[in-house]
Amino acid sequence: MDISLINKIKSSFKIEFNSDPLMVFSPGRINLIGEHVDYNDGLVFPAAIDKGIVLAIQKSLESECTAIASDFEESFHFQLSGLKPLANGGWRNYLIGIVSELLKMGCKLTPFKIIFGGNVPSGAGLSSSAALENAIVFGLNELFNLELTKQQMILISQKAEHDYVGVKCGIMDQYASMFGEENHFLLLDTRSLKSKAFHIDLSGYDLTLINSNVQHNLSDSTYNKRRALCENVSNLLQKEALRDVNVSELEIIKHLIAEEDYQKVLYVIEEIERTRKAAEVIRKNEIPALGKLLFQTHKGLSEQYEVSCEELDYLVDLAKKSTAVLGARMMGGGFGGCTINIIKKAETAYFLEETKKAYKKKFGYDCTVIKVKLSQGTQLIN
Ligand code: GLA
Repeated sequence: MDISLINKIKSSFKIEFNSDPLMVFSPGRINLIGEHVDYNDGLVFPAAIDKGIVLAIQKSLESECTAIASDFEESFHFQLSGLKPLANGGWRNYLIGIVSELLKMGCKLTPFKIIFGGNVPSGAGLSSSAALENAIVFGLNELFNLELTKQQMILISQKAEHDYVGVKCGIMDQYASMFGEENHFLLLDTRSLKSKAFHIDLSGYDLTLINSNVQHNLSDSTYNKRRALCENVSNLLQKEALRDVNVSELEIIKHLIAEEDYQKVLYVIEEIERTRKAAEVIRKNEIPALGKLLFQTHKGLSEQYEVSCEELDYLVDLAKKSTAVLGARMMGGGFGGCTINIIKKAETAYFLEETKKAYKKKFGYDCTVIKVKLSQGTQLIN
């Protein structure tokens, strides 16, 4: 956890509001494998990281709430009634969404004040949004003794993102951010919302993120379109979700859907299976086999599901050509953000240097290496 960020947020709060806040840390997440399957009831393999959102919160004696986003130097004043999503509201809509959902559930809130800031690069595919949602709902739960369970809180976070931000996300990000365990990945069944913590022995390897530093605008609308396609096809097959569909069942309706849609659905079915395989090879500690699965996932995301971009494909190509890298793939929603790479420790420094040079030469700007540790989920801090 970033102590200087915590101190900065806490002291800004004291200066701004002249009172002591409750402090919350809510992490971002990475995902080893199982991409774009959480809204198909599939299995995913995320972990919370040591980077995320730090939020300071306290009750207010004023008649309205105040929220300050310290990274953007923006503030927002609002009443606890008549809340509606704002056009181009950005971070405000996460807050409005959570508060509205709590009020709808009958939770008793009175005016409060918040200051938050973070150290997850936004657009890096590390789920700064889920971290923010969870930080807000967790903070309000503590402040007003709402007695919500963690499961209720993540569903509120997800609902806020669906209905107030407009992204029909799955539950992986909110779950990983809330339930993360130090030094562990979580094999999460997104249907039952049950997870199993896995310690992966990566001694001899580095798990490294490379941020492409691009974010293409396509992401939100395309995300919702992909989800709608998956739901249409599972409806067509009269199944609850694509998790319940196998390849031979998909073949039966192949003639009813466009080839590109068929490929997308096929990707999802294959990725759910790949994540099961990943759990098996991890149990046997076969890291090279895990690496191969990561490369396969990238190929599927790029060529079948079509959520990659030139920059991410280039980073994964470099990884594939290098004997230093066991596996790499784009991570998260896509169209930018990070790749996740399993690299032989002894060769990490050389590979990263070469990659940075090549990337800069090709695109004219830098890619950035991000080091993360696997961390505990959303929590109160001092
Ligand atoms: C985004 C969403 C998640 C998940 C990933 C892709 O991060 O918020 O729910 O669908 O994309 O795996």
